[in-house]
Amino acid sequence: MKVVILEVAYSCNVRCKFCYNPWGASKGKRYPQAKVLPKRDFFHIIDKLKQWGVDTLAFSGGEPLLNPDIFEIAAYSKEQGFKNSLLTNGLLVESHAKEIAENFDVVQISLHGTEKTHDRLTGSRGSFQKALMGRMALIDRDVGVSAVIVVNKLNLFDLRDTIALAAAVDMSSVLVNRFLPGGKGIENVKSLGLKENELVEMLNVVEKASEDFGIPPLVGTPTPLCLEGLRSYNFLLKEGCMAGKGLHCAIDPSGGMRVCNHSPQVLGNCLTSDPEESAPDPLFV
Ligand SMILES: C[S@@+](CC[C@H](N)C(=O)[O-])C[C@H]1O[C@@H](n2cnc3c(N)ncnc32)[C@H](O)[C@@H]1O
Repeated sequence: MKVVILEVAYSCNVRCKFCYNPWGASKGKRYPQAKVLPKRDFFHIIDKLKQWGVDTLAFSGGEPLLNPDIFEIAAYSKEQGFKNSLLTNGLLVESHAKEIAENFDVVQISLHGTEKTHDRLTGSRGSFQKALMGRMALIDRDVGVSAVIVVNKLNLFDLRDTIALAAAVDMSSVLVNRFLPGGKGIENVKSLGLKENELVEMLNVVEKASEDFGIPPLVGTPTPLCLEGLRSYNFLLKEGCMAGKGLHCAIDPSGGMRVCNHSPQVLGNCLTSDPEESAPDPLFV
């Protein structure tokens, strides 16, 4: 599987304390943010990705549903044979449920805790309710919906209940990602970053709660190998860090390519350069 994260919007309608988006960082080198591409350029990028053998596009951002062309871009991608997934905070899902179900195979809705915890982390009161309404609006539609939890110091205590909630609203799986510092999240590393014992606690809660509530788990962000050695959790992403392994890259809303969505380093523009020509080690092998 060759997956590209296609970031189609810089803007967002919440303000997550942990957000890794490199254009949201207030410290360090300024991210080279340019204009969001028009849809015809996204079509062109999709054509290129097809030639490069990519088979799955994960639409992200910012909040991807804030790009007014999202459904046309996703429909084009589907026509070209890609599997489409949508990474969303869920706020606009209810009002676009039909188009989402028509154009995406999988939807991942961020759910960072029970109500108070979630709204505190997103910095947006009511975001929890809207995310749940979004999930409910997709319930009778033919599309898989998973919950994504970014686990950090402020929601670890709530993790079991969050997994229970994801199961209660019939999410097909729960993706548990530990907080990785980046973007605005760098300002909050001290208050959010998990220590080694907390990471082990997270894995133990995931193991027990997913079994108790009958929901398949996956831990997406790579776990340090020294910890994985402690026990064999069978829900850890087996590939480890995917950056530079030929499986993965991120393309930002103006076409800038990065080895990973968590990396702030733009390597070139996907519209004007071809990674197979410009990089000594091709991104896609
Ligand atoms: C940048 S968000 C964009 C999509 C959408 N706006 C949302 O909030 O779900 C993409 C995914 O990254 C997750 N995420 C954001 N910051 C993160 C961090 N610092 N570490 C790990 N995952 C993070 C989000 O929960 C979401 O699943």
